[in-house]
Amino acid sequence: MLDFSSVNGKVAIVTGASKGIGEAIARCYAEHGMKVVCANRDPIRGNEVVESIRKDGGEAVFFRTDCSKPEDIKALVDFTVEHYGRLDGIVNDAGIGMGGNPLHEYSLEDCDKIFNLNLKGVFAGVKYASEAIFKSKAEGGFIINVASIAGIMPQRGQALYTATKFGVVGLTQSAALDYAPYNVTVNAICPGYTETPIFDGAPEQAKQYFINDCPSGRMGKAEECAYLALFLASDMARYVNGAVIPVDGGLSAGAKNVTMWKHPEILNK
Ligand SMILES: NC(=O)c1ccc[n+]([C@@H]2O[C@H](COP(=O)([O-])OP(=O)(O)OC[C@H]3O[C@@H](n4cnc5c(N)ncnc54)[C@H](O)[C@@H]3O)[C@@H](O)[C@H]2O)c1
Repeated sequence: MLDFSSVNGKVAIVTGASKGIGEAIARCYAEHGMKVVCANRDPIRGNEVVESIRKDGGEAVFFRTDCSKPEDIKALVDFTVEHYGRLDGIVNDAGIGMGGNPLHEYSLEDCDKIFNLNLKGVFAGVKYASEAIFKSKAEGGFIINVASIAGIMPQRGQALYTATKFGVVGLTQSAALDYAPYNVTVNAICPGYTETPIFDGAPEQAKQYFINDCPSGRMGKAEECAYLALFLASDMARYVNGAVIPVDGGLSAGAKNVTMWKHPEILNK
């Protein structure tokens, strides 16, 4: 039977929780009785999210964190254990996009910037959180890394972003092998084109392209990733480990070919 009560009271860190997918996950966790540490660089927006979660009856606290700095992530984990007395799981969501150029046009500074956050930040999140999860003797610890379809399907014009997300997928699966015997799961969520502020300022044409490119004919909603993150945090998902799960409307399932339906009338009501 579908029962999310096992997450009630679990303590989780969500990085990137001030916007987009991270915010949706933090809200969803708090709605289901989890204690959430919302980590982000922006204290104004971060505190707004926390206040709004509390107004809705949830339990959350903000901790200012630059996830491209491993020392900030260590401080975040230490704060969580001090504040809530334990850690059951982490969602490493904070990440940036970087796209639209052929590889040679990216600079070494671009490379450092995106690797430091999207990959090294996730490594630090898994490293420090796993230590705290073990020390907490968590029954059903969980680690969720937000990768991308770019972590399973290379993207033209996105060599660096693709490299970081393939890295996150590899790191996830390797860590799952490390921790599986100790009842800590490590999984990756791979969003497809999802409507979040990451696309603020993107031209309307780009959004139309995303919609046309997706077999489901629409962009995803941040909540659709949050539902999966909730399941992965619950005891129902204890046997789901090392999984790399797309939430992408079928985008990574394969190429869209031309199809002629012999009986399109079955679609009519
Ligand atoms: N939206 C999509 O279509 C899409 C698709 C695939 C993967 N993703 C991945 O999902 C994750 C979230 O993306 P989103 O669309 O919600 O983006 P977003 O821009 O809406 O949110 C990103 C979050 O990360 C935070 N952040 C950025 N830099 C940070 C730093 N140095 N330290 C701490 N926090 C930082 C931002 O403040 C924000 O809260 C990212 O890892 C992204 O790569 C998104």
